[in-house]
Parts: sequence; structure tokens; C-alpha cells
Amino acid sequence: MNLKIAVLAGDGIGPEITEQAIKVINAVCQKNNHIPQYTYALTGATAIDQVGDPYPEETHRVCMEADAVLFGAIGDPRFDNNPKAKTRPEKGLLAMRQKLGLFANIRPVSTFKSLLHKSPLKQELVEGADFVAIRELTGGIYFGRPQGRSEDGNTAYDSCVYHRFEIERIAKLAFEFALKRRRKLTLVDKANVLATSRLWRETVQEMAPQYPDVEMEYMFVDNAAMQIIQGPKRFDVIVTENMFGDILTDEASVITGSLGLLPSASIGLHTSVFEPIHGSYPQAAGKNIANPVATILSAALMFEYAFNLPAEAEMIRKAVDASLEEGVVTEDVNKENPSSTSEVGDWLTDFIQNKF
Ligand code: IPM
Ligand code: MN
Repeated sequence: MNLKIAVLAGDGIGPEITEQAIKVINAVCQKNNHIPQYTYALTGATAIDQVGDPYPEETHRVCMEADAVLFGAIGDPRFDNNPKAKTRPEKGLLAMRQKLGLFANIRPVSTFKSLLHKSPLKQELVEGADFVAIRELTGGIYFGRPQGRSEDGNTAYDSCVYHRFEIERIAKLAFEFALKRRRKLTLVDKANVLATSRLWRETVQEMAPQYPDVEMEYMFVDNAAMQIIQGPKRFDVIVTENMFGDILTDEASVITGSLGLLPSASIGLHTSVFEPIHGSYPQAAGKNIANPVATILSAALMFEYAFNLPAEAEMIRKAVDASLEEGVVTEDVNKENPSSTSEVGDWLTDFIQNKF
């Protein structure tokens, strides 16, 4: 099979972590007689610097023509403390999500046996935790209009807007995920306060009878934030709106012991995008210390969701499990005896080449 992959490495550690993922993808392809074809394109601060736009038209064209997008990270501190900056790297990510119609962001959260002791939570609480957070990605307060400032500059506003069709399409996906898993779905909202949340709850309640095998649960977001830490094992599939999903999945990453381990898949109307949930980690850029595993596991999701090649995905996951067991990990996981970013990538590539 020919696999057309657009690579948007982006900023900070983006280039070095995507490089490791590409090595791993190449090894998996070689084993299974696939031919990967990479097209590189600009995004984020790098794209602002070179062409003045964080998601240039050319990059969009490359994404549209690919079978899948491998995305590194975007963000640059030069823009963070400059509220007057004309454009921002993050705008590129949001533009990409909107233009590719990526309405669902899938973030699986599971623990690794060999890292249980790394979790700041009690081992018995996290052992066996395994849930999927499905975050709505193209609506809500991230995109709602009006958004901006009053003329005198002393008032600012964002709008949280949801249409029924946006809730229905992501809820359908979430119900289908639940059916393939342990058949429990939790809708996280703030229906006691927000009108949008009440539309979410009403819509999901109306759909639930079509899925009698799925046990439905409704939970307010403040409570969910607590439950994810106190009893993560109670969750199977969580579905929620854009901003709640952003916050809860960063929180959930703590369960696994490092933000550097969690992958994600964004799917929707056009090409799907695979990216780590962590950011561009500018302090580590170019130092060969960042954890490439979240990006490599995102490549596993790519094989599964974009190419429908679950066995190839499993190869990557097995290799990652083995590396963690062997202690071939970057400094976020083991400060005393860390491997470098590229050493982890090389180890995984070797493992795939020689152990399967
Ligand atoms: C994420 C990130 C982005 C978001 C930022 C960089 C705009 O935090 O993918 O979770 O908030 O969606
Ligand atoms: Mn986030």
C-alpha cells in the first residue's frame, strides 16, 4: 500500500519528535511492504517567520492531498506574552482544524504497567485505568462569534456556540466507540449553568435510546475533573465540548506519569491528523531530550484509523511497551538514567526491524 503522509513538524520540539515517528513508520512499512511518501509543509511560528501565515494555503493543499497528517507541535514563547501580536502560531492549528473539518479529537488514556510507579496518583487507583476522551474540536468557545474587544479596549468577550448537528455527529461517534469498548459513555458538561451544555445534554438524551446497550452517564465538568483523578477506572468513553476536553485531557495525562506519552487522533470531514497532546516545549527544542513516544503512538493511531492497518499499529505499541519495560526512556520519565530523543527512536526502530 502507498501511504501519503503530510508532515507538519511545526515549532519547538516538533521537528525532532516527528523525525523519530518517521523512523518508526518507515520500519513498520518496510516490515509490511507499504510505501510511505512524505510531503513536508510549514505550520506554526516557523510558517509565520517564513511566509507570514501559521497555516498557509500551500500547507492546506498538502494536507488535503494526503491520506493522513502527522503533526508535531506548535507554539513559540515569542508570541505568548505579546497580546498585540497580529497573528499567533496557535491560529494555524485552529485554522487547520476548521479547514479540514476535524470535529473529533480522540485521546486514549491508558496506563503502562512499567510506569505505574511514575504516576503521582496511588498505584491501585491508576492500575488498569483505560478510557478514551472524545473532545469536540471545531466548535464552542474556541470558534464562537462574536469574539473580541470593545472599542475602548476595556471589555473582552468570547462566545460559546453549539449547533445541534455538531453535537449529534460527535455523540454518534462516541456511542460507536462505547459499543466497541466497555459500553459506557459519560457526557461531561455544565448543564446546570450553560445553555450550550443544556443543548448537549438534551441532544445526547434524545440519541441514547438508539443505543440501548450503552450505559449513559451525565456528569458536570467540575465533578469530572475530580473523578478523573480520584477514580479514573470508572470511565470508558468520555465525550465533551472543546474547552472542557482540552482541560480534562491535560489533567488525564498525569495519570500515565508523563504528558510525553499521550497520543491523539483528530478526525472529521477531510484528512485526519495525528499529533501528540503535548505542546512545543520550547525549552527543550534542539536538545534531543524530548519524549518522542506520544508522537510515535500517534503514528500507531494513524495506522489504525487512517490506513485501517491495526496490526501495524499493534507493532508500534508492542515496541513502545518493550522500550518502557527496558527503561529506554527520556528524562521526563527517568531523570537518573535517561536516553535521548533519537536514542528512543533508534531503539524502537531496531526493535521493529529485528523482533517481529
Ligand atoms: C491542544 C492545545 C491547543 C488547544 C492549543 C495549542 C491551541 O492545547 O491541542 O490541546 O487548546 O486545542
Ligand atoms: Mn491542550
